[in-house]
Amino acid sequence: MTKQPVILDTDPGVDDALAMMLALGSSELDVMGICTVSGNVPLDVGTRNARGVLHLLGQAEIPIFAGADRPLKRDPVFATEVHGKTGMGRAALPEPNANQQAGRGVHAVDFLVQTLSEQPGEVVVIAVGPLTNLALAEQRGPGVLQKAKQVIVMGGAIAEPGNVTPVAEFNFYADPHAARRVIHSGAALVIAPLDATHQVMLRESDIEERIAPLNTARSQFVVDATRNMLARCRQIGREPMVYLHDPLAVGAAIAPELLDVETVYVDVETSGDLTLGQVVADRRDAPSKGRLGTPVDCVMRVRAEAFLSLFLSRIFSLACLQI
Ligand code: RIB
Ligand code: CA
Repeated sequence: MTKQPVILDTDPGVDDALAMMLALGSSELDVMGICTVSGNVPLDVGTRNARGVLHLLGQAEIPIFAGADRPLKRDPVFATEVHGKTGMGRAALPEPNANQQAGRGVHAVDFLVQTLSEQPGEVVVIAVGPLTNLALAEQRGPGVLQKAKQVIVMGGAIAEPGNVTPVAEFNFYADPHAARRVIHSGAALVIAPLDATHQVMLRESDIEERIAPLNTARSQFVVDATRNMLARCRQIGREPMVYLHDPLAVGAAIAPELLDVETVYVDVETSGDLTLGQVVADRRDAPSKGRLGTPVDCVMRVRAEAFLSLFLSRIFSLACLQI
């Protein structure tokens, strides 16, 4: 089976780490490199986390390319209240030697531009953090995102409320100008918005009954990394769970048959005091030429249980995990 080359652009964060585990546990994919970007945590913290996750998975040879340490225009925002100060909840990751990390010294934007230009139509980019690196790549090489076979983005909210403001999802809120630039890039885009990612989650019972008993370094990492998020749910009176936002973007690359996609005309608000980062979806019953925004394929429905089973079996690389 020919492996699909992918580049994962990420701001590790807990669900980013789960997305890395899913991508690296899926034999359909050839992860060419990990690009890091400021988002959930500052760039240096996220880059260190990416290195630690690769080391945990025994794949330290995969190159990491540090990227943008701030958004295109707005001030940086982080999500340490959700992911913890380290970005990995309460998990302790190994501290590999940064000097030995492959990819070191090559900027993520240079890696994106060079790889997409050298292999047009072949590489899938999976972006699960703010889109700053992708927007800078497009700025550096106009049309370069169109050279990707596909650009899968976790971000935005179509009909679902936001998760960082009433109307904005974190990745698009953290760099709205980048999100708008990527949406208008003409790339072969698929977006996994909160409308879809809020359908897939790890419940506390899944962690206690289907992950903790595995009693491996990987399962313990997942238990420790998600502990903060479960505690925070309890603090705010919600059912303890961890949304699988970023893993679902990887799911769009390995199991698109589990997802229902709808073409929606979208744009991103880049100046509203109250609406910064909002996805404005034009779903009016009007002729397409009169629509606002750009038509983009958006994941709107997920076969959640099937995806969760796939996710759990892949991240622990147990073909017949009794889950
Ligand atoms: O809104 C969810 C997104 O924001 C995920 O990518 C999560 O990691 C955070 O970056
Ligand atoms: Ca993320």
